[in-house]
Amino acid sequence: MAAPNIETIVSLSKRRGFVFPSSEIYGGLGSAWDYGPLGVELANNVKRAWWRWLVYERDDIEGIDSSIILNPLVWRYSGHEATFNDPLVDCKECKSRFRADKLVEETAGEGAALSDVKCPNCGKTNWTEPRPFNMMLQTRLGAVAEDDPSSLAYLRPETAQGIFINFLNVQQTMRRKLPFGVAQVGKSFRNEVTPGNFILRTREFEQMEMEYFVAPDAEHFQLVDYWVERYVGWYTGLGVAPENLFLYEVPQEKLAHYSRRTVDIMYRFFPERPEEPRQWEELMGIAYRTDFDLRQHSNKPADEEGKRLNADTTEDLSYFDEAGKRRFYPHVIEPASGVNRSLLAFMMEAYQERTTEKGEKRVVLALHPELAPIKVAVLPLAKNKPEIVSMARAVKGELQPSVRTVYDDTGGIGKLYARQDEIGTPFCVTVDHQSLEDEAVTVRDRDTWTQERVKTAELADYLKKRLKSRES
Ligand code: GAP
Repeated sequence: MAAPNIETIVSLSKRRGFVFPSSEIYGGLGSAWDYGPLGVELANNVKRAWWRWLVYERDDIEGIDSSIILNPLVWRYSGHEATFNDPLVDCKECKSRFRADKLVEETAGEGAALSDVKCPNCGKTNWTEPRPFNMMLQTRLGAVAEDDPSSLAYLRPETAQGIFINFLNVQQTMRRKLPFGVAQVGKSFRNEVTPGNFILRTREFEQMEMEYFVAPDAEHFQLVDYWVERYVGWYTGLGVAPENLFLYEVPQEKLAHYSRRTVDIMYRFFPERPEEPRQWEELMGIAYRTDFDLRQHSNKPADEEGKRLNADTTEDLSYFDEAGKRRFYPHVIEPASGVNRSLLAFMMEAYQERTTEKGEKRVVLALHPELAPIKVAVLPLAKNKPEIVSMARAVKGELQPSVRTVYDDTGGIGKLYARQDEIGTPFCVTVDHQSLEDEAVTVRDRDTWTQERVKTAELADYLKKRLKSRES
């Protein structure tokens, strides 16, 4: 069982401290969200799991962390200044603004015309012609006049370009030979026309991208399939049911300006929608970007006599292949995923409603242990008994260095279990009167609700083993 809709996760998130609407005391800010104590742990665990899987467990991928604000020329030569546009339409009646393609897709279905769509705000059909709207968020650098064009800069709309411009730095310092990849996780920004659906589409979000550099004559389309398969494995290995994933081969006319082939991995973010196609939204994309980016950053436009048309300078980012004694621009396969969408998919997937023996409804977030914000909660059975409290605190203190553990005595045991179930804690450890005598505690399992008595001396090893076996 998974969450019946995104709203269920919105309300759980707010209730339990995963995600809050940002700037709420000032009425919010459209599509901005803040990650609370449990949300930041979950997001960090998603990023850590991804980094471990790609950078640590493989031998062919390095990591970097580039600046969010790059030289604006990066965005000129990457093509974003000219082409990173969404089609914008206005309703002539009520002046509401929409992203034309999404509006048509979501209200009338793919392939329909804008003239078939009624304005979601006023119900009329009277649209302006769609026009391009550049999605890069602008800022100004330095203490210069607002209209001084030399101060204009952009917040990056993708982390990828920070990797391309560092291609030679990474290749040379790490003495890499093709094929190899460079991974980066970090914030990206897009001035989305119609953000929404909780953390699915926001103007500030986080990406986990990897550029995999290969030779020009590698099997590029097969490599796209290879990475699609790997990522499906990653998501399902962390708990996403295969039937909630769907592979979408992006048609030629919808490919981004740099892509020759893209496969999107879609997740069933909208199970409540009756028609199949509208249940899906992109979780991530795997694109074959050719040598477009490295070539663009290397070759600057020249006039007919070969003289550069402007003074933009750059290194040549070509690669010398020692074995083949040839120089070329590496081609790139790019798996680009989003932290926020991944987090939402993991939460939706983990959501369960169960009934206790007493007939009470319980929400359980059956997150994969690697993702669970808290792995163990230590709960004293009598908080007014100092010996029990001090033993429980000692148990917490012993576990914490190796396993993320919290101590909680803010309610009766039933309430405490329910709370830990709802936030996805795989194990609860209770310390009771008997613990003082037999030096043992009760370990309760989130998924089976079964309990086992374990000696405190063996507890850390026992929990680590059980968490590990759940992970694989
Ligand atoms: N470098 C390629 C690239 O950026 P993309 O499909 O535009 O490709 C990759 O973005 C992923 O980033 C998406 O699949 C999604 O998970 C995430 N993403 C993109 N725009 C987003 C937004 N406005 N809000 C949240 N996540 C977003």
